[in-house]
Amino acid sequence: MNNTQRIAVIGAGPSGIAALRAFESAEQAGAEVPDIVAFEKQSDWGGQWNFTWRTGMDTTGEPVHSSMYRNLWSNGPKEVLEFAEYTFDEHFGRPISSYPPREVLWDYIDGRMRGSEAKSKVRFNTVVRWVQHRPETDDFVVSSEDLLTGQTRSERFSHVVVATGHFSFPNVPAFEGIETFPGQVMHAHDFRGAEALAGKRVLLVGSSYSAEDIGSQIYKMGAEQVTISYRSAKLGYDWPEGIEEVPLLNRVDGSTVHFADGQCRDVDMIILCTGYHHHYPFMPGELSLSGPNTVYPEGLYRGVVWHENPKVHYLGAQDQWLTYNMFDAQAWYSRDLILGRAELPSADERAAHMADWKARFEAIPGEIEEARFQCDYVEDLIEQTDYPMFDLDAVFEILASWKKAKKAGIMTYRDHSYRSVMTGTMAAQHHTPWLEELDDSLFRYLMDPEVVAAERADAGQGSGLMR
Ligand SMILES: Cc1cc2nc3c(=O)[nH]c(=O)nc-3n(C[C@H](O)[C@H](O)[C@H](O)COP(=O)(O)OP(=O)(O)OC[C@H]3O[C@@H](n4cnc5c(N)ncnc54)[C@H](O)[C@@H]3O)c2cc1C
Ligand SMILES: NC(=O)c1ccc[n+]([C@@H]2O[C@H](COP(=O)([O-])OP(=O)(O)OC[C@H]3O[C@@H](n4cnc5c(N)ncnc54)[C@H](OP(=O)(O)O)[C@@H]3O)[C@@H](O)[C@H]2O)c1
Repeated sequence: MNNTQRIAVIGAGPSGIAALRAFESAEQAGAEVPDIVAFEKQSDWGGQWNFTWRTGMDTTGEPVHSSMYRNLWSNGPKEVLEFAEYTFDEHFGRPISSYPPREVLWDYIDGRMRGSEAKSKVRFNTVVRWVQHRPETDDFVVSSEDLLTGQTRSERFSHVVVATGHFSFPNVPAFEGIETFPGQVMHAHDFRGAEALAGKRVLLVGSSYSAEDIGSQIYKMGAEQVTISYRSAKLGYDWPEGIEEVPLLNRVDGSTVHFADGQCRDVDMIILCTGYHHHYPFMPGELSLSGPNTVYPEGLYRGVVWHENPKVHYLGAQDQWLTYNMFDAQAWYSRDLILGRAELPSADERAAHMADWKARFEAIPGEIEEARFQCDYVEDLIEQTDYPMFDLDAVFEILASWKKAKKAGIMTYRDHSYRSVMTGTMAAQHHTPWLEELDDSLFRYLMDPEVVAAERADAGQGSGLMR
């Protein structure tokens, strides 16, 4: 480290927290680390997992960040996102199920940092407005605003770590006649809960995770009809009666929606599950990532380092098969470059490395190979650092098994259990099948299964324990 270093981390979601934890871990091992400031526009950390009921603007007039909804449960097994240095066993003190709800995962993310000084490095309620690179000094001026006082500051930093996520700025396509629709049209970003859709006929446009999960949630909460309209390909699950897939929405005429194959339906609500844009309004164009949601975004060496200015790092910029442990791997690598523990290759070597991985990415024949690619990517990254290595082949096997379980039962896959790659512990079977569980709270999730079974028996619902 040299003593002119000062690190700006923008965003304190799982990726920004990983950056703070990476430096803390080095410090605990005796290294001298530079001054770090994390800027977080919300009043608490956790990023997407810091749920809010608000939509549109928050109390300070900033766009609401989180796209999560009250009823959200993890859509992948927790065994593929587990931190290698802080396990679920350590946090909960007993095995929990493989698919926890949102509040449980927020508790896990937060739990790793309890007792740490890292939170004191976060300036909450502070939004980064602009980052300017100064070529003459090869550093950055970061301008931020305290959203509570309105006070603005411009400060010098040697490195900028962008960790603001990329599932916040909705992609909102227009469809002919949509302005004539008398019901509500919203993007998935603004969806907060499924209960109000009981008895409703709902059109979801898009055929990826948001459509799949919001469709399942609203079915669970009693929607009368769920129609999923796909552009490129069907999700292709064996949906229960009441959920169907149809080709792309062609036009809207009042409450009647028409599809590309000539079919039409009458619906009460339209939810656009059409994904998000990479959008970094605080970054000048030449430092700003753009492009589609992909596992190999262009312009990032090892998926982290902005090739055109290697003092700018991005964390969590990929489409994500792995999340928390991938963010850790990236943060450890970013830290090691900053501390000079890892050597930054020359621009030509970086370009050649990116071209190799890009060629490999472009040759990927199907979805599951994309998961393999990301597992290999994470393994390669961890090899560059002292982050605890874990068995990425085993993680891939869990992902492959997850895909099969979804295919076998889109409404039951969350009842499956997997073994932790980190501890070898087999996940518990949850006390209530996902489809029957209407209470997503941490309190309910952690309830003693015997107590839940007794409650359910009293209510005449059977034990609830999977057989
Ligand atoms: C609906 C939905 C469901 C998901 N479900 C799962 C799941 O089940 N399992 C899973 O593993 N992953 C899931 N994800 C993926 C999720 O994106 C990651 O788990 C994780 O939250 C990404 O972390 P991040 O820190 O990179 O970004 P984020 O979580 O988005 O955090 C970014 C942070 O940056 C802050 N910020 C943004 N702009 C500024 C600024 N200008 N100045 C200061 N602060 C700023 C934000 O307030 C936020 O706190 C889901 C994503 C979505 C949208
Ligand atoms: N925990 C959970 O249960 C949960 C729930 C929701 C979301 N998530 C996470 O949230 C992230 C984002 O998922 P996402 O589904 O919102 O986005 P996404 O994976 O990027 O998918 C976007 C979808 O929108 C479609 N689309 C885009 N433009 C369109 C247009 N003009 N017309 C019709 N369709 C269009 C795309 O179709 P094409 O295929 O044709 O491009 C694609 O199906 C993922 O990481 C996911 O894991 C998790």
